[in-house]
Amino acid sequence: MKYNIKSIDDLSIEEVKHKRALIRVDFNVPIQNGKVINDLRIRSSISTINKLLELETKIILISHLGRPKGKRNPEFSLKPVYEELKKLLPKTNIYFIETIEELKNKSNQIQPKEIILFENIRFYEGEEKNDLEFAKQLAECGDFYVNDAFGSAHRAHASTEGVARFLKPAVAGYLIKKEIDYLSKAISNPEHPYIAIIGGAKISGKIDVIENLLKITDKLLIGGAMMFTFYRAMGYSTGKSLVEEDKIELAKHLLEKGKNKIILPVDCVVSNEFDPKIMKHGALKEVSFDSIPEDGIGLDIGSKTIEKFKQELQNAKLVVWNGPMGVFEIPETAKGTIEIAKYLAEITKKGCITIIGGGDSASAIEQAGLQNSVSHVSTGGGASLEFLEGKELPGIVILDKK
Ligand code: 3PG
Repeated sequence: MKYNIKSIDDLSIEEVKHKRALIRVDFNVPIQNGKVINDLRIRSSISTINKLLELETKIILISHLGRPKGKRNPEFSLKPVYEELKKLLPKTNIYFIETIEELKNKSNQIQPKEIILFENIRFYEGEEKNDLEFAKQLAECGDFYVNDAFGSAHRAHASTEGVARFLKPAVAGYLIKKEIDYLSKAISNPEHPYIAIIGGAKISGKIDVIENLLKITDKLLIGGAMMFTFYRAMGYSTGKSLVEEDKIELAKHLLEKGKNKIILPVDCVVSNEFDPKIMKHGALKEVSFDSIPEDGIGLDIGSKTIEKFKQELQNAKLVVWNGPMGVFEIPETAKGTIEIAKYLAEITKKGCITIIGGGDSASAIEQAGLQNSVSHVSTGGGASLEFLEGKELPGIVILDKK
């Protein structure tokens, strides 16, 4: 999928100056005890907001938070995000507006260079249903539309897709533009050698991405618990490791298709005990892939695999990484994920383009403190995955073409 969409840079000064920009952002950030604990997604949209403030635009920000299922629920309020936004833009007047009626009024009253942050758009049923009457109401609150919510671009909702049918111009913000620029490098005319690293617990969520990447990469390295479903497909016993029994046939098919491309771990870290609820493991040991003990639960890739993966990666020109190599939330079983993250930072210095999918892989790279040492860390989990699967993202295809 090739996107050739307009961004805010393609708008004329008459189209933006003193006009109301309805901007869909993805401020779906983790909140604990009423405080934002990771503001990456908020900071990632600041360059778009600043550019439009510079151009004397009136700004209306729309976002969702969590999944409140169309009902007003204080647990999912964007108030903590409002507090964070005020800290990031201390010189700007920012208003927090809670209902669509108030939003319609206030959007006609604010001054250029002021901002409204609207309460969680998913408090309205019309949002996820992509109700076009609701989308029209949103469209009334702006003079042009900007989508900067990459993390939600795979959702055809009223504020990500419906509204752009009625409110024109409809263009991309800088975050979406940057995400498209980088992620496109991974799917159209990629540089070679091109290596993909796919991890995570289950094959089920990654089938389409594996199938698509097998067509365009030179090697596909597999880590995470999904390796055990592949081992089973090859006839090895995997002890008490997580296996998707109903995906063993599919794993066989993928191995057949990716005969010379798929590289599986040669060893793994196992324990005889693991409690995922409290993230606690028993005694850890490294074993070869073909001798996992009967009571062994695989929790990470082993040291030989780390070395093997590094060798595969050393001459790469392009690397895409999606999904951790093991249970990276526990320090003792984070080694595989952290070592791969460190190596990606090393090859980035040598000129390799390294693209990290959002979600768990983004958290892992942040945990390693290396988010600024790779080429791009996506802000979208599901969205980056669908992009890499080669699917059209509805929040992007609806935007004006160049
Ligand atoms: C995300 O966190 O992946 C996005 O904000 C989308 O959220 P959703 O999966 O609830 O639509």
